[in-house]
Amino acid sequence: DTVPILPGTPSEVWRYTAELRNGPADTITPVGDSYTGPLIRLRRGQRFHARLENSLPEDTTVHWHGLHVPPDVDGQPRLPIKPDEAMTVAFDVRDRAGLYWYHPHPHGPDGGRVGFQSYAGLAGPLVIEDEAERALGLPAGDQEMILVLQDRRFAGDNELTYIGSGMGTMMTRMRGFLGDRILVNGQPDSAREVATRPYRLRILNGSNSRIYKLAWSDGRPMTVLGTDGGLLAAPRQYPFVALAPAQRIDLWVDLSANDPGDELRLLSDSYQAGMMDNMMAGGMMGSGMMGGADLPAGTRVPLLALRVTRRERGKERLPERLAEDLQTPPVERDTPLRRFKLGMVMMRGFAINGRRFEGATVADHEIVPLGHTEVWEFVNDSMMPHPMHVHGLQFAVVGREQIGGRRGWSGLAAGLVDSGLHDTVLVLPGERVRVALTFADFEGLYLYHCHNMEHEDNGMMRYYRVR
Ligand code: C2O
Ligand code: CU
Ligand code: CU
Repeated sequence: DTVPILPGTPSEVWRYTAELRNGPADTITPVGDSYTGPLIRLRRGQRFHARLENSLPEDTTVHWHGLHVPPDVDGQPRLPIKPDEAMTVAFDVRDRAGLYWYHPHPHGPDGGRVGFQSYAGLAGPLVIEDEAERALGLPAGDQEMILVLQDRRFAGDNELTYIGSGMGTMMTRMRGFLGDRILVNGQPDSAREVATRPYRLRILNGSNSRIYKLAWSDGRPMTVLGTDGGLLAAPRQYPFVALAPAQRIDLWVDLSANDPGDELRLLSDSYQAGMMDNMMAGGMMGSGMMGGADLPAGTRVPLLALRVTRRERGKERLPERLAEDLQTPPVERDTPLRRFKLGMVMMRGFAINGRRFEGATVADHEIVPLGHTEVWEFVNDSMMPHPMHVHGLQFAVVGREQIGGRRGWSGLAAGLVDSGLHDTVLVLPGERVRVALTFADFEGLYLYHCHNMEHEDNGMMRYYRVR
C-alpha cells in the first residue's frame, strides 16, 4: 500500500537492500547507518550476477555507473524493471580497480526519474579491486573511507523534500536541485576518530547537482591517488579538488605529523557560482519562493571532521608510482572528432546539439565504430556547468580551453583533475573540453548525458550506438 510520490511532495526514503547469495562475505557491506545503498566490492576478472527486484511503485533500472558492461545490463531507460518485477543481470568485471557506483536510470514519457529516485535514497558505491592495487599496500581497513556526498532538504518531520512546487520548480529544474544540508553516507555532521597515520579517502559525489570544492581546513594540498577510472600513474597534488556530480576522487591524507587532539576537516570551500545561482541566492529569490537554496552553490561548508585521538605508527608510505596499467586511448592527427554543443532549447530544457532526449527508437543516433577511438568535444556556451558522462567506458581528457566567458564560474578551474581516466568530465561555461574514447568489445546502444540529474531528466541525454 504505497502511495505514488510526486516530485515536489515530501518523500519517504527509498533504499537498496542486498543479500549475498554466493561469494566472499565482504562483497556486500553496509555504508553508514542510513539510506545509502550497500558497498559492493568486486574483483577484476570475476563474473558478477545480480537479481534485481523492483518493489517500488514505479519503473526503475539499476545502472552500473562507470563500468564497461554490455548494453543490455547497463540499466538503461529502454529496459525498465516494472513494479513487482525482477531482472537478472550478469557481467564480467573488466574494469580497473577503482570506485564506481550504481543508481537508477528510468526515463518515461514525462521525463527522467533519475533525480527523484536517487534523491529518495537509491544510490550506492561499488569498488573494484585487483592484485596490482593490493600490492601497493595503500591504507586499508579502517584507514580506508568510502564517502558518498549528497545534499538534501528536509521538511518539518525530517522528511526528504525534493523540488518544490510553484515558481521555484522551473528554476530548480533548470539549475538543478540543491539541498540545504550536506550528508556524508546519509548522515549529517560526520566525524571519524583517526590515528596519526595515513588514510585513503575515496569520495563519490552522489549529489543531484552540487559541485564540491574539496579542500583541507589546514590549507594542506590535496594528494590525489585516482579518479573515476582508478589510480593515476603517480600521485599528484592540487590546491583543491572540484568534484562534480557522479565524479569520484581517491585521496591520500597523512596525519602522522598531527597530534592527538587535532582535528582536520574536509570541507567544500567557497567559490563563485554563476549568474543564476547568485540570482536565486539573493533577494526575493532567496526566500525560497523562487526555488532559492539556503545553501547556494559555492557556499563554504564542512563535510567531515577527522579527529585525531591516538598516536600510532603506520608503515604505509605514499608510493611514488601507482598504476602500471593506465592506458589512455591513442589519439592521432586523423582521429575523428565529434562536436557536441551543450545548451538550452527555448527555455524548455537542455539539449545536446539542439536535440533533447528522444529515446532509443530514433534512427539517427551517433554511430561510432566498434574498436575505434574518437575525440569528443563538448562546447559549453550555456550559463551553467555541465558534468558530461559517457556510459560504457572510461575516457581521457585531452584538451580543455576557455573560449568564452565563464559566466561567474571561475574559481573551480585550478581544482579540475583532468589526468587519469574518467567517465564524467566537468565542462564549465565558456569551456571547450576534448576527451578521447575507445569503443571496445560491445556493440549496441549506450547513453551520454549531463550528470546534473535535473538536466539529464530534463532531456540533456542522448543514445549513441557502437557498430
Ligand atoms: Cu550515472 Cu547515465 O549515469
Ligand atoms: Cu553511467
Ligand atoms: Cu547540465
